[in-house]
Parts: sequence; C-alpha cells; structure tokens
Amino acid sequence: DWTPQSFVEETVEDLQTKLGNDRVVLGLSGGVDSSVAAMLLHKAIGENLYCIFVNNGLLRKNEFTDVLEQYKGMGLNVKGVDASTRFLDALAGLSDPEEKRKAIGRVFIEVFDDEAHEISDVKWLAQGTIYPDVIESVSATGGPSATIKSHHNVGGLPDFMKLRIVEPLKALFKDEVRRVGASMDMDATLLGRHPFPGPGLAIRILGDITAEKVRILQEVDAVFINGLKEWNLYDKVWQAGAILLPVNSVGVMGDERTYEKCVALRAVESTDGMTADWVNLPYEFLQKTSNDIINKVKGVNRVVYDISSKPPATIEWE
Ligand code: XMP
Repeated sequence: DWTPQSFVEETVEDLQTKLGNDRVVLGLSGGVDSSVAAMLLHKAIGENLYCIFVNNGLLRKNEFTDVLEQYKGMGLNVKGVDASTRFLDALAGLSDPEEKRKAIGRVFIEVFDDEAHEISDVKWLAQGTIYPDVIESVSATGGPSATIKSHHNVGGLPDFMKLRIVEPLKALFKDEVRRVGASMDMDATLLGRHPFPGPGLAIRILGDITAEKVRILQEVDAVFINGLKEWNLYDKVWQAGAILLPVNSVGVMGDERTYEKCVALRAVESTDGMTADWVNLPYEFLQKTSNDIINKVKGVNRVVYDISSKPPATIEWE
C-alpha cells in the first residue's frame, strides 16, 4: 500500500542511488511542489542540492523575503536572487498576455542559467513536476518548471536545460504531494498555500505593467489574503487573488471627486484548476475587505467580486 512514509523512504533511496555524489540544481518557486521536491532531494543528497529562488518582482507582498527565510529554516542550501528590475524592464510597454508570459519566461531562463553556471560541475536539473503537469500543458502549480516547459526555445537550449532531469514527484497528485510534505514535517502553512501562477501578478494586472501597479496590487492582494486567513476562509478556498483592472471610475472622498482604479477579487473552489466555481464568501467578509482595501490602498476607489465559473470563464483574467 502507498503511504507517504514509504514513498519518502523509497524515493530517498532511489535518489541516492541515481545521483550518487552529483550536484543538482533546483528552482524553488515558493509553491508546494518545488518545496516538497527540494525537501526530498535534501534528505537524499544534502548540500549537493543547490536551490535557486528567483524574485521576479511579481510575487505577493513580502513573499520573497518570508519564503526565503522559511527555506533557510528548513536547512535548504538556497540562494535568493532578486531580479525584479530585470523582469520589470523586460515587461515595460507590453500589454498582450502571451507577450508578457514570454518575456517573463525568457528572463527567468536567463537568470536561472546565469545562476546555474555559478555552481561548478552541476549534473542534474531537479523539477517539482507532478502527475497532472505531465498531462496538461499549463501547470496549475505555477512553478519555475512550468515556466521553463512552456517557453523553452528548441533552437538554442540554455545550458541548464541540457542537464539530466530528475523529477521525484512525477507520479503524484497534489494531495499526495501535500501528504508527503507533511510526513517530512514540513510547515503546514507552506503545504497549504494556494497555487500561484508562474508569471505571478503580471497576469493579474490587465494591460501594461509598472512598478506602481505592482505595488498597488500587492497591497490589495495582501488585504484580501490576510482577511481570508483571519476569517478562517483561506483553507476553504482553492485559489484566491486580486486583479487590477485597466479601468478608472469616479468616486467621492470628503468633498472631492476621485477618479481611481478598480480591483476585482477572485476566489474559486476547484480540485485541479481545470474547472472551478466561484466561492460564496460571506457578505460580511466581502464588505469588510472592500472597506479595508479602499481605506488602506491609495489609488483604489472601487472593489468588485468575480462571480464567474470556469468554464466558460477562466480562473485568471489573462
Ligand atoms: P486558468 O486561468 O487557465 O488557470 O483557468 C488555471 C490554473 O493555472 C494557473 N495559470 C498559470 N500557471 N503559468 C502558470 O504557471 C501561467 O501562465 C498560468 N496561467 C494560469 C492559474 O493560476 C490557475 O491555477
């Protein structure tokens, strides 16, 4: 019978046999899959696992520093690379969703390749690919591996993509990955994190991206996500986030009219991201969250809640 414990034991042994004293590089995304893959490899080969966590400047508020600390606390050999400016520069002026995805994928590959070159004699690239990723083209998990897969350029592969691939979670479903993580005593908050797309907030800022828009959306998203946690709703939702709309609307503050941004909140129930229903969040929660957002986040004067299911809508707006 399959148990998380037996899976960990067998996988660690297999990895040790397969990898010996070889060095392995792995891109951490902050998500469940890459984190569990890293822990398994860490158990198997310790310091020979080199983890790279890239800040693309499109993560949630404080996520880069918080998650990096968490990784270090887990004993992982991890290097945090803040490449925010490089990503924002590459995104400047782009508003087409696929163009934005391509730019992010391209810069990610460049940054990761530079970092992989810093590790001498690395032989393997580890990925947190899970079974559904193998069958679907778009990963719901949003890790660097997803970015790499959908954007690799067959003409001239970057060096790290010529490495041998090791994918310890390839046969598992998401819930099994979480159970494997729990059996290795990984933090419940890390294992329970909502999926987050690889291109991050870039596909939740409709249209072109600026540092100011990223900042506004990070603030809005933080109010929403922290609210879900405070109201014990976070674990009842499969994925949630905020979308910055390319719409200004009239509002009023004191005696003055405002003309500011509108944000949409999205929370869905799903098992695999392929279909999804919007969540019937309590009106009191929505009311409080809307007030908090408008009061705390300068530049936003209107909040709407997305009540579309997938299909025919998608989870993300881009
Ligand atoms: P959609 O919007 O297609 O999203 O209903 C389904 C799931 O996939 C995630 N998603 C992405 N993940 N790169 C990723 O790594 C992407 O470009 C991307 N687009 C969507 C989305 O967050 C949801 O979990």
